[in-house]
Amino acid sequence: METGQKTESRMKNNVIQRNEMEIQFDALSVNEAFARVAVAAFVAPLNPTMEEISDIKTAVSEAVTNAIIHGYDGQFAGEDGLGGGQGRANQVFLHCLIDEDVLNVEIRDTGRGIENIEQAMEPLFTTKPEMDRSGMGFAFMEAFMDDLEVVSQPGCGTVVLMKKKLGTTSWLRQEE
Ligand SMILES: Nc1ncnc2c1ncn2[C@@H]1O[C@H](COP(=O)(O)OP(=O)(O)OP(=O)(O)O)[C@@H](O)[C@H]1O
Ligand SMILES: [Mg+2]
Repeated sequence: METGQKTESRMKNNVIQRNEMEIQFDALSVNEAFARVAVAAFVAPLNPTMEEISDIKTAVSEAVTNAIIHGYDGQFAGEDGLGGGQGRANQVFLHCLIDEDVLNVEIRDTGRGIENIEQAMEPLFTTKPEMDRSGMGFAFMEAFMDDLEVVSQPGCGTVVLMKKKLGTTSWLRQEE
């Protein structure tokens, strides 16, 4: 249970100052829809515009799809049938933090990782052209969010960190 003091520090004039959530789910394509709806529901108290919700959902969808089809090669379970020997299926981790009017989203997998991040982030670059992939996932994440960072280690997995400031047009675009 939260103490009154802690609740107060997270709320000011009935506006959320800080709110955090983390979920973990099986690397199944049905969970792409679950993840984007979960994030949309989480940001709802900030009264985002339809455009902001749509941007966030698109970016989350792209990152989760990447974790499933590239990180885990579309395999629900690892080669040993147990999800990399950990006794369970391959997992995608989704962490969200609302810090005043900024949404931070982290999407992580423990899959194959990315050899060359700079090249992977180039528009139209894909390692799965045979699957009709267009290589635009990272470009969409970059376009629809205000900040995108990718950290990855081959053989260990990938973390995608995204930020979006809600309530105004992008602060990066404003700076330009
Ligand atoms: N989580 C991940 N794990 C391993 N490799 C990844 C991951 N995310 C992206 N990649 C690599 O980066 C490349 C580019 O990703 P991006 O999302 O931009 O394009 P794509 O997934 O190939 O195509 P699209 O997203 O348009 O369907 C991928 O082809 C893949 O090689
Ligand atoms: Mg993609």
